Amino acid sequence: MISHYIQEAISRGSIIRVMFERGRKLKAQYGADQVFDLTLGNPVLEPPPEYFQALHELAELRDKGLHRYMPNVGFDFVRDNIAQRLRERKILPEVTRENIIMTAGAACGLNIVLKAILNPGDEVIILAPYFVEYLHYVTGYQGVFVIANSNPDFSLNLDELASKITPKTRALIINSPNNPSGRVYSQSSLEAMADLLYLKQKQYHTRIAIISDEPYRELIFDGQKVFSVASIYENSFVVYSWSKSLSIPGDRIGYVAFNPAMNNPRMLDALSFCLRLSGMVNAPAIMQWLVNKLLDVSIDINYYQTKRDRIYQSLKSAGYDLIKPEGTFYVFPRAPGDDALAFMQKAMQLNILVVPGQGFGWPTHFRIAYCTDDYTIDRALEGLVALVRSA
Ligand SMILES: Cc1ncc(COP(=O)(O)O)c(C=O)c1O
Repeated sequence: MISHYIQEAISRGSIIRVMFERGRKLKAQYGADQVFDLTLGNPVLEPPPEYFQALHELAELRDKGLHRYMPNVGFDFVRDNIAQRLRERKILPEVTRENIIMTAGAACGLNIVLKAILNPGDEVIILAPYFVEYLHYVTGYQGVFVIANSNPDFSLNLDELASKITPKTRALIINSPNNPSGRVYSQSSLEAMADLLYLKQKQYHTRIAIISDEPYRELIFDGQKVFSVASIYENSFVVYSWSKSLSIPGDRIGYVAFNPAMNNPRMLDALSFCLRLSGMVNAPAIMQWLVNKLLDVSIDINYYQTKRDRIYQSLKSAGYDLIKPEGTFYVFPRAPGDDALAFMQKAMQLNILVVPGQGFGWPTHFRIAYCTDDYTIDRALEGLVALVRSA
């Protein structure tokens, strides 16, 4: 009964989910406090107090119609307020609510954009290392993914990117701050990338969309700022989610905003139709109302920055080759011997779970998700330090 496409996709599985399942088994065998699971980007941090306050207020609210069907794109007042923030922060300086649709998180946003723009056989460029779900999203809408590697320090490799753009290129997905590398792309490299795409569009007489996946936009360290390429590129979409910035991935809320300079009067209709088709219909009403109250709130970034510092210093001084993440809650060190699968097995013998880079199209490295408690991080670090010293 299961379609060939889905059969094949599920039998390939997700390496992150496989690790998660192994972790569950190890925990059952040794006890949860003896297994040090650094695999999932599922924050243990609770949402900020303002979130609970807003929830409380919502419980008292008796506005008529709050829980009814609404326009598929979401509440006008919420989209107005988001548009205002996007203009103020110069992410999309001309945006209005007519360019915004509320979604059930970034995953939903990416899906409706791809569904809206892809024709069968269209190519979508994905920069490695990448968030593995992108591949499934693209093939799910009959697109073809084309991988372009980043530089060894995970900055943008524009020569490699240029070599992957063809007349069939329909879109490029970019993710900054990046999962898994923690890299934040510099403004100058994003400007050069936009120039390259403008050039290629002209050369091939095509339109190439940039889909800027920004769920980690607020998770940025050392007082840096994230530059969104959408601000300087006409055919661009910003995909956002509060999963990480409010620590609420289970609540499923985000949005897609597109650059009005795209000049495509039917784009909002197209996204709205795709959201309907997806079965989501509209983003949860309660969550729209809640995030509207919390547009200037985020989790305390020091919580992650302190962990980042401790992990980076500890791994670096032990001898790991790694870049210092500038954002997110991931570190992506090189595996001793450049063999992430073998390294993962060794770590597992110490009950430490990490994700091998195979899951991100970068098999020499492994990912640590440090959105977990300090006890787990400290015990895992002891083992990881011992492993590199014995390598
Ligand atoms: C790069 C990236 N994009 C999208 C998502 C999906 O986020 P959401 O929970 O908002 O759907 C994730 C989740 O981990 C991610 O890491």
